[in-house]
Amino acid sequence: MRRKIAAGNWKMNGLKASIGELEALKASSEGATCDVILCPPATLVAAMADVASGSGIVIGGQDCHWNETGAHTGDISAEMLADAGAGAVILGHSERRADHGETDGEVNKKSVAAWRAGLQAIICVGETEGQRDAGETLDVIGGQLNGSTPEGATATNIIIAYEPVWAIGTGRTPTLEEVGEVHDFLRGKLVARFGDEIGNGVRILYGGSVKPSNAAEIFAVSNVDGGLVGGASLKASDFSGIVAAAN
Ligand code: 13P
Repeated sequence: MRRKIAAGNWKMNGLKASIGELEALKASSEGATCDVILCPPATLVAAMADVASGSGIVIGGQDCHWNETGAHTGDISAEMLADAGAGAVILGHSERRADHGETDGEVNKKSVAAWRAGLQAIICVGETEGQRDAGETLDVIGGQLNGSTPEGATATNIIIAYEPVWAIGTGRTPTLEEVGEVHDFLRGKLVARFGDEIGNGVRILYGGSVKPSNAAEIFAVSNVDGGLVGGASLKASDFSGIVAAAN
């Protein structure tokens, strides 16, 4: 039995005033039986990790550099995130792949860095609408998974997030059959590469327009172990409904 995960990605949203949402989430998710991860912008990681302390809610970063220190202006290392109190980091989100040209090889190196610092790596994969229309979805996702996931993955040091690019922030979602097809495929790839125990232990999240109203049906699809949620994670009132669906 894999424990489900409700993970929130605040992207480039949130000021100090938003920390109240975490206070509210702490109260509403008390007793949750799923894992809850919230990834605010880097500026809020330390303060939110303090607030989350003792609640079971894990605070995560949204990216890290692969080096520990050095001349990389504007970048943040996995060790810095860990030092600020983070327990996880999102890597290879499609917005970073598109905005910053991140490659599978870089995501792979960043994942190794996350492990070095003791962070769980939440590795994102997903096809564009054009790739889906061209029938390339499984090829694209298989390639991203292979290239972005380092050797040495375990059931606890990685989480995979399948996020179709065309479903992010659009209100559109794949059908449950389409979600199931991709998640089954990813499960098969993980088992083939890492063996039964690790391959069946890794959690695979769905992301892209998850809302309180559709979370339960998506999370009930086989091999869907929870969600990575953007817009609907910004307000505790919405995200707590998604946490409830993952319980
Ligand atoms: P939305 O939930 O806003 O569609 O974003 C999904 C996402 O990109 C999470 O990483």
